Formats: sequence, C-alpha cells, structure tokens
Amino acid sequence: MDITSAEFVVSNSRADMCPQTHLPEYAFIGRSNVGKSSLINMLTKNPKLAMTSSTPGKTLLINHFLINKEWYLVDLPGYGYAQRGKKMMEKIQKLIEYYVLEREQLTCLFVLVDSRLDPQRIDLEFIEWLGENGIPFALIFTKADKQSAGKTKSNVSRYLEKLKEQWEELPPYFVSSSEKKTGREEILNYIEQINRS
Ligand code: GTP
Ligand code: MG
Repeated sequence: MDITSAEFVVSNSRADMCPQTHLPEYAFIGRSNVGKSSLINMLTKNPKLAMTSSTPGKTLLINHFLINKEWYLVDLPGYGYAQRGKKMMEKIQKLIEYYVLEREQLTCLFVLVDSRLDPQRIDLEFIEWLGENGIPFALIFTKADKQSAGKTKSNVSRYLEKLKEQWEELPPYFVSSSEKKTGREEILNYIEQINRS
C-alpha cells in the first residue's frame, strides 16, 4: 500500500475526546522508548510526524494521524515508565485502558516489544489483558537493526514459545527497524488487508 498523505490531526488527554469519525484506527502501544513514535514516522516516511526522543516518556497523549484521508494511525503513550511518578503512571494507565477498551474504531492494536529482550512480564501481562478483553492485536518486534538477524530470529522464536504457554493461537507478528526501514511493507500490507475486509 502506498501512503499518499499523512497528517497530524489532534492530541488528546482523554479517549472520549478523540476524533468523532468512524474511520478505522490502528494504534501503537508498548513500553516507553520501545519505538512507537519512530515506527509511525518510518511507516509514513515522515521523520517529523510523531515526536520521538531518546528519553522514555516522550509521548503522553493520544495522537491521531490521518492516513490517505481514510484511516488513522494512533500514537499512544508508553506504559511502565516508573520515573514519571505514581500519579502520572496511573493517569497514563487509565488513558490507555480507556482508549483500548472503549474506542470502537480501534481495528488493530500493534503491541511493540524490543526484539533484543527476553519476554518482559509487563508486556506478557498486557497481552493477557488484551486477550481477556477480546481486543484484536498484532505484535511488532522493534529495533532489529541493533543486533544480528540470527539473534533477532532466535529471540522472536523464544518469545512465540512463551506465548504458546498462554495462547492456543499465536497473534500475527512483524519484525521492524525504523532505522533501517524494515518491516514497512509487511505492516502496511497487513493494515490494507484488514481495511479491505
Ligand atoms: P515513548 O513515547 O516515550 O513511549 O517512546 P516511543 O515508544 O514512542 O519511542 P521513540 O519512537 O520515541 O524512540 C525511542 C528511542 O529509540 C529514540 O531514541 C529512537 O531513535 C530509538 N529507536 C526507535 N526505533 C528504533 C529502531 O528501529 N532502531 C534503532 N536503532 N533505534 C530506534
Ligand atoms: Mg512516543
């Protein structure tokens, strides 16, 4: 799929204030610093679209980007960044929960995990919570450029083995690098396939 237009629409601190349209939404979630905003920039080929930072906790609001005037990419704040303080963490947690559970337009939630790490409990718990609530999701293993292809492959296999302990069926998954621009076609084709169905 070709992205012909990508425009920032609005940032919200409340899920019930998000755009009042019925266009499908594809949102990105994961731990702070995993690369959600960078991935949105890579997919849209616009390095300035979503704000990124080497310091965790950059994205604090729900950000809607209108793609091809037909669907949205949604950048969410990261979870699990304790240094923000307890109050802020709870606020972000609520924001995420409300968006994920109540947003009818949410068509697929992409859960980003760092391809270099062992399965993290916070992500596994989040994935379990998605399952309990019947939220459609796919996994993206990020920052694949930071290690060899072989290492990424073995980490992904280990992750899937771990998920099999919890799930009868594995979710769709992708490997990405925003740095090397890998995974773009696969992720966009997946979105296109859902949009057409
Ligand atoms: P929060 O908004 O804080 O939750 O973080 P985020 O998940 O949006 O992460 P962000 O996209 O801001 O990226 C965090 C850092 O990781 C930045 O320094 C990025 O340049 C870097 N980064 C993101 N994706 C990649 C990648 O694929 N490869 C490499 N090498 N670095 C990446
Ligand atoms: Mg971000």
